[in-house]
Amino acid sequence: MYDRVYNFSAGPSMLPLPVLEKVKEDLLNYQGSGQSVMEMSHRSASFKKIAEEAEADLRELMEIPENYKVLFLQGGGTLQFSMVPLNLLRNSKKADYCITGTWAKKAYKEACKFGDIKVIASSEEDTFTWVPKFGKEDVRPDADYVYITTNNTIYGTAYNYVPETGDIPLVADMSSNILSEPVDVSKFGIIWAGAQKNVGPAGVTIVIIREDLIGYAPKEVPTYLDYKIHDENDSMYNTPPCFSLYVAGEVFKHIKETGGLAAMQQRNRAKAEKMYDYIDSSSLYKCPVAKEDRSLMNVVFVTGDADLDKKFVAEAKAEGLVNLAGHRSIGGMRASIYNAMPMEGIDALIEFMKKFEEENK
Ligand SMILES: Cc1ncc(COP(=O)(O)O)c(C=O)c1O
Repeated sequence: MYDRVYNFSAGPSMLPLPVLEKVKEDLLNYQGSGQSVMEMSHRSASFKKIAEEAEADLRELMEIPENYKVLFLQGGGTLQFSMVPLNLLRNSKKADYCITGTWAKKAYKEACKFGDIKVIASSEEDTFTWVPKFGKEDVRPDADYVYITTNNTIYGTAYNYVPETGDIPLVADMSSNILSEPVDVSKFGIIWAGAQKNVGPAGVTIVIIREDLIGYAPKEVPTYLDYKIHDENDSMYNTPPCFSLYVAGEVFKHIKETGGLAAMQQRNRAKAEKMYDYIDSSSLYKCPVAKEDRSLMNVVFVTGDADLDKKFVAEAKAEGLVNLAGHRSIGGMRASIYNAMPMEGIDALIEFMKKFEEENK
């Protein structure tokens, strides 16, 4: 009806169509206010309600315990690479990182500027095609926190377990799989995520933080980088990313209306299984990722011939299946099938893959 493509981009990526339609409907005159959310004061009653409902809906969806604060910040995922160490290196100034891809490595490098940071596990030797298992025995007993990236957007891997770290807070970058399935928030000290995959437009970053971890940033830390200032001001210390937060709020409502995270997990599993089953049965495509660590969100595959991969991406694009090129650092193909990708998109992609395989035997 709208002539839209199936967009397999790793982020920013597809948003649910009903949310886009709602945003369109509200665009010029948000619920009788005579203005769009983009033009609205963030101190207005209308916007306050938007922000409060977004937080309440996220809390309900993720069953966030009362002793956790929800912050809506800016700076993307990348700013969290420094905010986390600046706020959490509070005693020994030691932190332990598990390196499962480019984003984890960037987080590690940033943290190294601020403390004694140790790599406790890594799959880099195998081009990050699997996720290491580690537990409490691998963590320094006086570490201030342990850091993981639950879904590795570029390499198509995901943790299939939550590492046990005892009393040491576990910090998780969930940028590319937040809201894709239920998680036990109480197992984490901080969960954070940029919006532009499962949450909404780029611009807002969600930080879910256990309240006893707030308040340790040294006084030299720039005001904006202290979680405490955002907590004390209900994420309104300065102008928040109003429009992104509003759309994120609409996405939360949509997820609630479509069965919450348990239903989302079922749909995501069904979509990913269909993709992996087809790839594993094909003689042209290969998924390099260990079966037990495959991501439900980012499906990477190759033909083994870089020129053929390029041809695949170009021909798929011509059929309305766009953004299938792998990350520029590894090549091949990557189908990002976040929450908003419908099963019809998976079916269309598989149909194209079969045709391409037939034509390029
Ligand atoms: C897992 C993960 N972490 C962090 C980032 C960086 O986020 P941002 O571009 O919002 O800084 C990305 C970006 O794709 C990501 O996939």
